[in-house]
Amino acid sequence: MIYCTLLNPALDLVYSTEKFSAGGTLRDIPLRVVPSGKGMNVACIVRTLGEESAVVGIMPEESRNRFTSWLDKKKVQHRFMAVQGEARMNVTILESEGAQSSHINSRGSPIGREAGEEFLQFAGSHLAAGDEWCFSGSIAPRLGEDLYARIIAQCKSAGVDTFLDTRGKALSLGIAAGPLVLKPNSTEFEDIFGEQIQGVHHLALKGKKLLDRGISHVFITLGSDGMIALHDSDCLLSVPPQVKSIDTVGCGDALMAGILVAWKRRFSFSETCRLAVACGAAKAMHAGPDALTRDEVWQLMEDVKITAV
Ligand SMILES: Nc1ncnc2c1ncn2[C@@H]1O[C@H](COP(=O)(O)OP(=O)(O)OP(=O)(O)O)[C@@H](O)[C@H]1O
Ligand SMILES: [Mg+2]
Repeated sequence: MIYCTLLNPALDLVYSTEKFSAGGTLRDIPLRVVPSGKGMNVACIVRTLGEESAVVGIMPEESRNRFTSWLDKKKVQHRFMAVQGEARMNVTILESEGAQSSHINSRGSPIGREAGEEFLQFAGSHLAAGDEWCFSGSIAPRLGEDLYARIIAQCKSAGVDTFLDTRGKALSLGIAAGPLVLKPNSTEFEDIFGEQIQGVHHLALKGKKLLDRGISHVFITLGSDGMIALHDSDCLLSVPPQVKSIDTVGCGDALMAGILVAWKRRFSFSETCRLAVACGAAKAMHAGPDALTRDEVWQLMEDVKITAV
């Protein structure tokens, strides 16, 4: 089973209107409520690609049904530890006129440090050798930025493979715990080293330093330029085919889903890169985080260009 964590769940309230201006009143506006979080995106795409997946996380009781019914529809399993309150809500207003959008992100109800401790035990009770755990996105404030690092340590002693995609303190602490796979984008990668890193060879040189710290695979994603990936003495540059790009938010999550599925199916390193980059490109072709199809991905895979660096 591929588990994807959700430690900062949110409900996205998306309003679509012709024109929005501050101070007015809009009536009868269509609203879509979308349960969100990077772990949700990864788990749904893993499922689309044909592997079993589950979202595991902390869930405010009053919002639980929104998340579970959404995941049930997508045939993704869920293991949620309940806490009191409601998930935070983010409002997006999409305007067809001028094609712009406005966003209001809320703080959400506080989840205390003790919930982090409780979640460590909860996670521990779900660990089974041979599974994969993917840690994506942010951790709710106060749960503890060391939470991914602590669960990674638990996973390693239980024989569970770990995949990390986050930022900030959770990222630096997570790296120190030595996950199997790390997927930073170029900004996150520069933040790890605190310096500008440009050009394929400089990226490769720095990526090697992460292998030296005990991480087995490093995938550095570069938006439409593709990805530099390192493992053992291999360093590969993978360039996606040109696609009609509609929405690139979540391309990294799609790419991570590709890595997980390739790992589960024991793909070679270069075929893993091919699948991952094809998933990122397929995501870019769609609005919304998980609208890609399996056929698109298989087709795009053929046109990913891979070269040794
Ligand atoms: N416009 C694009 N065309 C083709 N492929 C793309 C495009 N944008 C992104 N990709 C693919 O998706 C991968 C991940 O993109 P990116 O580096 O933007 O991830 P990210 O910043 O982690 O995204 P997010 O955190 O929003 O999921 C890239 O490595 C690339 O293979
Ligand atoms: Mg990302």
